[in-house]
This record gives sequence, C-alpha cells and structure tokens, in this order.
Amino acid sequence: MSTTSERPVWAAGGQFIDGAYREGSGDSHQVVDPATGAIAATVRLATAADVDSAVAAARSAFGEWSTATPGARSGALTRLAAVLEERADLFARTESLQAGKPIKLSREFDVPGTIDNTAFFAGAARALEGKASGEYSGDHTSSVRREPIGVIGSIAPWNYPLQMAAWKVLPAIAAGNTIVLKPAELTPLTSLMFAEACRDAGLPDGVVNVVTGRGPEAGAHLVAHPEVAMTSFTGSTAVGIQVMQTAATTVKRVHLELGGKAPFVVFDDADLDAAIQGAVAGSLINCGQDCTAATRAYVHRSLYDAFVDGVATTMGEVRLGDPFDPATDQGPLVSRLQQQRVAAFVERARSYAKVVRGGQIPGGALAEGAFYEPTLIVDAAQDSEIVQSEIFGPVLVVVPFDDDAEALQLANDTPYGLAASVWTRDVYRALDATRAIKAGCVWVNDHIPIISEMPHGGFKQSGFGKDMSQYSLDEYTQVKHVMYDLTAVVRKDWHRTIFGDR
Ligand code: NAI
Ligand code: MG
Repeated sequence: MSTTSERPVWAAGGQFIDGAYREGSGDSHQVVDPATGAIAATVRLATAADVDSAVAAARSAFGEWSTATPGARSGALTRLAAVLEERADLFARTESLQAGKPIKLSREFDVPGTIDNTAFFAGAARALEGKASGEYSGDHTSSVRREPIGVIGSIAPWNYPLQMAAWKVLPAIAAGNTIVLKPAELTPLTSLMFAEACRDAGLPDGVVNVVTGRGPEAGAHLVAHPEVAMTSFTGSTAVGIQVMQTAATTVKRVHLELGGKAPFVVFDDADLDAAIQGAVAGSLINCGQDCTAATRAYVHRSLYDAFVDGVATTMGEVRLGDPFDPATDQGPLVSRLQQQRVAAFVERARSYAKVVRGGQIPGGALAEGAFYEPTLIVDAAQDSEIVQSEIFGPVLVVVPFDDDAEALQLANDTPYGLAASVWTRDVYRALDATRAIKAGCVWVNDHIPIISEMPHGGFKQSGFGKDMSQYSLDEYTQVKHVMYDLTAVVRKDWHRTIFGDR
C-alpha cells in the first residue's frame, strides 16, 4: 500500500444509489476543505425524489439480502474489509480533506477502526441466534427468530464521517437489512466511497445506498418515508428530538446518539501526570468534535492548581497546522460555522469565567482555515453554559471539588449521559464511581478508547440504542416468537374458556 501526502481530487458523483454513482437532482453543493477554505468537491444534492429512488433500490434488494445465509453475508463483509484495506490511504486522505482531521488521526484511528469494525461484523453476522427454544408450555414448542427489520434510514454527522457510516451500515447489513444512509452534507465523500467499496466487495446493488442532501430536506424525507422501517440518527439533540417526532407518525423504530458533555473526574489519589496527559488528549481529540470528548474536568482541590498548570502547559505543546502534515496534532474545526459557534461559546464565557489559555482564532498561515486554539477555562459555575452545553470544540473547563460524593453529583449534573472517566488508584473508589455515574461508558484511568466488541451509546438525553458490538445487532433485528402445538388435539384444553365443558 502506497501512501502520499497529496490532497485527493474528487471525480465521482454525490449520490450512490443501486450500485452506482450518480448526481442528485437538487442544488449544486461544495464540500470545503476546512484547513484552507478551498473547494474539495462539487456535487449535486439529493431531493426528495432522489431519496425515493434510493429507498426503492433498498426495498428491492431486501428480499435477496435478507434471505442470504449468514455465511454469505459474512463472506461479503470479509471481502469488504479487504477492499477497505487496499484503499486505506485514499480513505484517510479523503477523510482529512473533507473533515480537516490530522492525517495521523485518519490513518491511525478512523480508517483502521473502520476496517476492524468491518471484520468484527463479518464474524458477528454468523453469530446471530435466538435466545430460547423449548417447551415453556407443556403443550407447545416455542422458538425465537431474530429477523431483519427492512430498509433502514440512517442519518450521520460530520465529526467522524467514515466511522459513522460504518457504525450505521455494518450492523444493519450484517443482520440482513438494507440501508439508505444520509451523511452530513459537509462531509459526504468517504461515505460514498464506503458504499462503492461495498459494491466492489460483491454486495448486491441496492443493499447500501448513500444520499447526500440537506438535513431538513433529504434527511427529514428519509425519516418520514413510509417504506423505511427504522431510523438511526447521530447528531445534535435538537435534531434528534425532531427525528423522533417525525418517526412517530409511521411508528418507526428509532435509534438516537445525541452528543454529550463527558465529565473527567480526578480524585485526590490519582496519578496527576497521567490525568493531565489524558485530559489534554481526551479534550483535543478530533479538535474536540467528539461526543465522548473530555469536556468538564472535576479535580480534587488538593490537585487543582497543579492540574490546571499542567494542562495549560501541555496544551501549549500541541501543534496546530495543515492536516496533511504528519507532524500536525490538531487541525481545523469542520467548518467556519463550527469555528464561529465555538468562539461564541468562549466569548460568552469571558463574562462569568476565566480563560486561562487559548480562546483565540489563530492568525498568520492558519487564518485561512477554521482553526481554534486549544482552550482552558476555569472559575465557571456548575450551572453556566460552558459547563452545561455541548461545545464541540477544543475547549476544556476545570472545576474543583472537595469530596467524592460531590464530584459524582457534579459529574451527573447535565442532561447528557454518554461517557465519563474517573482517575484514581483506589479500586473501591473506581467501583463506586463507575456504578454511580449515569453514562453509557465509564473509563477508569483513560478517556476515549473504543473497540468493536463493546457497545457505544448514551443514557439520559444522549439518546438510546447501542452502536458496535453484539448489542448493536439487537437494534437492527426484531424478535419473533414462533409457537408450535405439540398435541395435535382438535379441542384443546384451553378451549374450555370458550366452549365450557361441552
Ligand atoms: P445536526 O444535528 O444538524 O446534523 C447531524 C445530521 O443531521 C446531518 O446529517 C444533518 O444533515 C442532519 N439533519 C439536520 N437537520 C435534520 C432534520 N431536520 N431531519 C433529519 N436530518 C437532519 O448537527 P449540526 O447542526 O451539524 O451541529 C450542531 C451541533 O450538534 C454541534 O455543534 C454539536 O454540538 C452537535 N453534534 C453532535 C454530534 C454527535 O456526534 N453526537 C455530531 C454532530 C453535531
Ligand atoms: Mg443543524
């Protein structure tokens, strides 16, 4: 596999429907390189009619795909992992181009993570089974079938475009569903390439379709579509609420992953250096555009000053720059709009808190891109916006605490519950904290790692439903009870309730 540092050129269309690229019938749309402001690709967006074509393709592919053997589906996914591996470098460069990710992050995390997910679901496709088969009534044999649901309509965000496409597509198709995925219009390119790779791996046309369109048009139409059986959405809580409301009108199954505000709790016995390194890496990963990123550090008062100093110094060592430079640690935010959103949060915070470092849009060569400095904030009240709201930028706020119970109460005190970490060398403290924190994932002495075998998904207003792992297959299957009479008796015993003793 060769690697280059060149920005790739996009030559294909903006839609992938029924096994082929095509253009949408909507407006012309520019995908922008957020590091430079240059146009990375120009595509035509999907209209409602294009979404209808994609749903029709998925609908007609469902019969064959849903009845393919688990071994056949697994084989296709195994070939997909190989195709992704062959194209890894192009995937990494395209992901960095459209999302502004440092190339080392795309190469070492996004792309290998996606290949590993694919290999995992190739195995999982063959491990699907019903839980029970037996004579629960003396007169019947019961069995449980786990069946695909139908056409899945999925809507993905722009922070990890390739991984989000993989998390949505893989469990859905491993279980025998077909899918129409709408990536974020800011970052559609690697989702389109993923669908192309599915075709090249031999998946039948129409099993995986990608429509690039705007949320309120293509996205909302997909959620409302009567032929779509389930909606899976990752994005903002505000849109998630609308998605759930729209899905209600056709009684669709809904799977929502809606952001977070992860606490990072440092107890007084923690390894301070490890906590400092972990807080900087955990808050700045993907420029902070990660729904599990460390955003609120609660630090025991005895370590507070040293922690704040250490984080400020370590943030100062992070190199901002061109995502295509292998030495770059932090690229731009995904867009100018996201840069403005993050800057506005920090500007509002200046009136009630203290910005210890960062808080600026860098100038010079970086002024062309959507860059933002790593930012550290202190002296913010627990109920302030900077502590409560999802910022989705390279911003960490640090708050002191005096005892463990207080720390855990503060950690749980937002509407979100996606992820959290606790830093301690005391196993009893760790056990207490991991039980008390209401979140879908709690790390002990680390923050961020994910693995294909383990579930990812929220508590509280971070949503519900699990991505990755065997648990995600529960989301994309429905359980059917089949009950066989064992007696072959004409007038069965329970018929007494109708016929009496006659
Ligand atoms: P968003 O929620 O608007 O976008 C996510 C996806 O939903 C995109 O594909 C978008 O086209 C689609 N969408 C938008 N409106 C829709 C509608 N009415 N019906 C169906 N689909 C729709 O997120 P946005 O505006 O790009 O970012 C705003 C904030 O949301 C961020 O600053 C961040 O706080 C949060 N966010 C959280 C994410 C997460 O991973 N949980 C990912 C992206 C954003
Ligand atoms: Mg939005």
